[in-house]
Amino acid sequence: MAFLEVRNVYKSFFLHGKRIDVLRGVSLDIEQGELVSLVGASGAGKSTFLHVIGTLESPAAGEMRFMGRPVFEMNDAEVAEFRNRSIGFVFQSHFLLPEFTALENVAMPALIRRTDRAKAFRTARELLERVGLSGRMEHRPGELSGGEAQRVALARALALKPALLLADEPTGNLDPATGEGIHQLLRDVNRELGVTAVVVTHNEQLARSMPRQLRLAGGRVNPA
Ligand SMILES: Nc1ncnc2c1ncn2[C@@H]1O[C@H](COP(=O)(O)OP(=O)(O)OP(=O)(O)O)[C@@H](O)[C@H]1O
Ligand SMILES: [Mg+2]
Repeated sequence: MAFLEVRNVYKSFFLHGKRIDVLRGVSLDIEQGELVSLVGASGAGKSTFLHVIGTLESPAAGEMRFMGRPVFEMNDAEVAEFRNRSIGFVFQSHFLLPEFTALENVAMPALIRRTDRAKAFRTARELLERVGLSGRMEHRPGELSGGEAQRVALARALALKPALLLADEPTGNLDPATGEGIHQLLRDVNRELGVTAVVVTHNEQLARSMPRQLRLAGGRVNPA
C-alpha cells in the first residue's frame, strides 16, 4: 500500500454548453516522504489535479487512498477534517490575510483550530525563522517582497504539520534566485520534517532538481 494511491481519476468542466475533459484517467502512487515535481503545458490540468487530490474539487470518477483511507468516499465532515489535518496548500498567489502580520498569518490556522495561543505563536515564530524571515515577523503582506510573502505562505502551510504538501507554482512570480531559494526550502522541509510534497512548476530546471519528476499531458500523469 502506497502513502497516496490515485486511481483512474477523471475531471471535466462544463462551460457554455462545452465540455472540457481535463483529467482523463490519472493514476499514480506517491510514497511517504517523496518530493515530486509536476510539469506540463499551461492548461494541461496541473492545478485541477492538485485541487482534486487536495479535496478542494471533486472528481467525476476515480479513487484515492490516503494511508489506506478511501478519501473520495468520505462524507463532507470527514473530508473537511482530512483536508485540515493532513494537507497543506501553497498557491501561486499567496492568499495571505492583508490586515494581519506575517506572524499572525502563520499562527492563524492553529488559532482557528483553537490551539493554545502561546503554542500557536511559538510554532509560527519557529517556522518563520526556518524560512529565513526572523526579521519580518511584524510586517503585513503589503510590506513584504513577493518572495518573502511566498515564504510566509509556505510557513503557514506547514503550521499544522501536514502529511502532504501541495504547492502550485510557489515560485511562479519570483526571480530565478528567489525561486531557487523556495525550491531549496521545499527540499529542506521535505528532508528535515519528512513532509511528502508535490510541487507544480513551469521551471524545468527546478523540476529536474526534485528527486522524482512527473508530467501531466493528455489528461494523464506520467514520469517526466
Ligand atoms: N472552473 C472551471 N471552469 C471551466 N474550465 C476550467 C475551470 N478551471 C479550469 N478550467 C479549464 O481546465 C483546463 C485546465 O486548467 P488548470 O488550471 O488545471 O491548468 P494548469 O495546468 O494549472 O495551467 P497553468 O499552467 O496555466 O496554471 C484549462 O483549459 C482551463 O481553461
Ligand atoms: Mg495552474
